[in-house]
Amino acid sequence: MAKLTLEASLDRFIEKFSTSGGLTQKGKQLIPGGYSRNSFNFGPHAVFVDKGDGAHIETVDGHALLDLNNNFTVNILGHNHPAIMSALSEAIPSGISFGNPSTPEAELAQLLVDRIPSVEKVQFSCSASESCMSAVRIARAYTGKTKIAKVEGGYHGFTDPLSISAHPVPGPDTGTASDPQPMADSGGIPVENVDNVVLLTQNDRAGAERILRANAGSLACVIVELESGAGGFVTLDQEFVEDLRALTKELGIVLIFDETITLRASYHGLQGVYGVTPDLTVMGKMIGGGMPLGAVGGAAEVMSVLENGKVVISGTHHGHKLAVIAGIACMSTMDEAAFTKLNGQAGRILTEINQWSAGRNHPFRILGKGNSHLGYVYLKSPEATVRTHRDYWTNVDTEKLQTCSLELANRGFFPVHRGEFSLSLPMTDEDITSFIETLKQIVEDIGA
Ligand SMILES: Cc1ncc(COP(=O)(O)O)c(C=O)c1O
Repeated sequence: MAKLTLEASLDRFIEKFSTSGGLTQKGKQLIPGGYSRNSFNFGPHAVFVDKGDGAHIETVDGHALLDLNNNFTVNILGHNHPAIMSALSEAIPSGISFGNPSTPEAELAQLLVDRIPSVEKVQFSCSASESCMSAVRIARAYTGKTKIAKVEGGYHGFTDPLSISAHPVPGPDTGTASDPQPMADSGGIPVENVDNVVLLTQNDRAGAERILRANAGSLACVIVELESGAGGFVTLDQEFVEDLRALTKELGIVLIFDETITLRASYHGLQGVYGVTPDLTVMGKMIGGGMPLGAVGGAAEVMSVLENGKVVISGTHHGHKLAVIAGIACMSTMDEAAFTKLNGQAGRILTEINQWSAGRNHPFRILGKGNSHLGYVYLKSPEATVRTHRDYWTNVDTEKLQTCSLELANRGFFPVHRGEFSLSLPMTDEDITSFIETLKQIVEDIGA
């Protein structure tokens, strides 16, 4: 039988989502690219959504899809969860915008302090991009140093200081695997921002030690995702993370974990799973329950620069009443049992697909540690591994990966186009079975 090609999947996608295609064209007359969130491009264009309910979205094209994108991991409770909807409905009649503080802000702060090991104090913003930038400012003021160490393939939002080497295409300017060189991720970023970044390679313990020691005098912070998303799905080794903790402590560098996505890994975040406590933690996505909210939290001593006049961070909507109220509803609903349920379903996907693939010596893999944010990849050979950003871009068959993503959408499932997906609490075991079986069928249709 003829194998399923990218071209054939693309044709089916364009036909199935033609209303979305038309809206994109219309939008382009007013908004560059047709919509403000270009990361939602799914092949030729984004899929426009009419409404969402529970684990599903309904597209403007009239299709119901199991939502495995969940606004890039935000919607851990799915859509219209009663806890969030009733908290918001109750709050709206008393006014939606105040410059004055409101009591729910400290309530959400308490929830985070109680759960996330590194967090003794917390400051809210409207997005994780802002809070990553705040974390860097805090680290710079606390240490009196300027440079930022990050891994090649680490994504920390779109701000100038951090839009460096989040997903560079390896080439002559990106240095070697053991000495990666920083690159701006966008035009318009002044070169000083590139010069301020020192790059590490994921899971290269000796390289990290060498580079951190050589730059210790100028490094304010090391910022990492324990499991990366946007730069290519890579999970850090336990030993690599422990090394970073020991080295940064010894060298007077602030260690920042960007848990924007990975907070959904467990009741105590992914840092709770590793058992490693950073100085600062960036949070976002799920903590706002679907409303725009970011936060930086950490050791009271490091956070004290926000109280002693050394650091100023201020935003009109920071700690917005509705966002913290939705956040409280979401975080309260996500008790230990809810995390266990989600991670059980994620573990099933990881184990069942990988065993099935291994049994066929097939190069398709599910990546991740088994929490409710996972990735799927088509490797170029069954023996290939993904331990660094460069492995990801070298060893992944991007054409087959794209075919798989388009075909999932064609068959009723909506992941992130680059192969990430996340689960939501309303998903049933039948939804998970159906996803596993569909994925296997697509992989069989595409072939090795
Ligand atoms: C790890 C990580 N950090 C920071 C950000 C930036 O978050 P936001 O888009 O809310 O500004 C993202 C967004 O995807 C992320 O995945």
